[in-house]
Amino acid sequence: MTEVQSLSPPLPPGTTSPPPRQAARWLGQNAIGIFTPEAYDEEVVERRMFGRRQIILNRPAAIQHILVDNWANYRRTAAGIRILRPLLGGGLLLSTGDDWRQQRRTLAPAFAPRTMPMLAGHVARAAELAVAELKTRGEQPVDLLATMQFLALEIAGTSMFSLEMAAFGRELRALVRHYAARLGRPNMLDFLLPLWLPSPRDLRRWGFRRRWLGLIRRMIAARRAKSSTAAPRDLFDLMAGATDPESGALFPPAKLADEVATMIVAGHETTAVALFWSLYLLAETPSVQERLADEVAGLSLGAESAAALLPALVYTRAVVHEALRLYPPAFTLARLAVADDVAGGVAIPARAVVLIAPWVLHRHRRLWAQPERFDPSRFLPGAPPPDRFAYLPFGAGPRVCIGAQFALTEATLVLASLVQAFRIARVDAAPVGVRAIVTAQPDPPPLFRLTRR
Ligand code: HEM
Repeated sequence: MTEVQSLSPPLPPGTTSPPPRQAARWLGQNAIGIFTPEAYDEEVVERRMFGRRQIILNRPAAIQHILVDNWANYRRTAAGIRILRPLLGGGLLLSTGDDWRQQRRTLAPAFAPRTMPMLAGHVARAAELAVAELKTRGEQPVDLLATMQFLALEIAGTSMFSLEMAAFGRELRALVRHYAARLGRPNMLDFLLPLWLPSPRDLRRWGFRRRWLGLIRRMIAARRAKSSTAAPRDLFDLMAGATDPESGALFPPAKLADEVATMIVAGHETTAVALFWSLYLLAETPSVQERLADEVAGLSLGAESAAALLPALVYTRAVVHEALRLYPPAFTLARLAVADDVAGGVAIPARAVVLIAPWVLHRHRRLWAQPERFDPSRFLPGAPPPDRFAYLPFGAGPRVCIGAQFALTEATLVLASLVQAFRIARVDAAPVGVRAIVTAQPDPPPLFRLTRR
């Protein structure tokens, strides 16, 4: 099995209270380094960080309690809000209380199973174009992370907003990349200052937000110019036309901009990374790649038939699930306890930070047999299903990922199209590190050689 390396070594075993500066350095460079080796063996690891109790939870019953049974007692942390708010504003992911409830109700129909065929058509068309473009490159080395980021953004643009991203993609990618590499990295003050007190970096983040919102508004204007009075054809129509059941009001323009930004950011980078790691694992494991190729050989994966074919792509989907197990793009869910609680027998004091880390949970030695092994058969029909609260690539409970079905549809179809067209191999065997800041990404991204089948 492929071994992945974390660029900064983990905190030494038994680290109970790293000094704030060191902890912040770890989190800013590679958040996976904050998990000490015992986190992969123990159900509960407690320590102090930034003056607060921090509890890493790997006990499924405790996780169920926090994400489902008593979810309202757990909020996003101030550091998480500080880092995401300049990008997502008051959209679905960062909203709370009644504001969140109203947004979630309004948006849910756009992500319901019945919209998947429409989305699958958009995905299939974009995948076809990507395959055609990759064919023109012959066997030149390809950066599949950049290729998947480009493709996922194109899919987000076309399927959610009926916009080809040619006019916006470059600027959007540059802004998101700039943010992730600099202002999106947490520093010590992010963890120590209360939310109402801005740090110097927060001021720079708000400067970034002005530029970011300028771009989102231009995208909305371009989309509105294409609007028609016909039935809603994409997520934008549903959001722009949605009314509050109580007041009858439309989303105000500022909220609509935040919603558009949220769906693009939350939806494209995560899916791009999931696709990258799936392709990486396939390149490292030719027997799995060939089995997937057998499943998709001869299938017509075009826009008209893609949705109907999805249920047949059983092995491809299992590969996606297993890649999401080993490389969950959303590697940690952090929550702040509002009031004292007991979760699955674990005492959680008010103001403690609870870390539910898919990265650790999915590689936990008590929860998985041979956790480091890439084995898609774990997710084939008939295999014993993993505990619902030991496998959380999309979270769980009321705040579960609203785009999970969309992401799975997209990843399965793109993977099927690429493996149907190409044999995928690494250009070299250099070890691949993982760097986790906003999502868990390869660093440096390895190069691949694609040979036509
Ligand atoms: C492989 C791809 C994806 C992964 C791994 C992923 C992961 C997650 C996770 C773990 C959460 C829960 C966060 C928490 O509880 O703190 C979440 C929430 C969310 N995701 Fe995704 N996601 C993916 C794709 C998408 C897509 C395609 C969209 C939209 C088109 C999307 C939109 C959202 C939104 C809006 C939320 C917030 C939901 C709420 O708070 O009510 N995600 N995602």
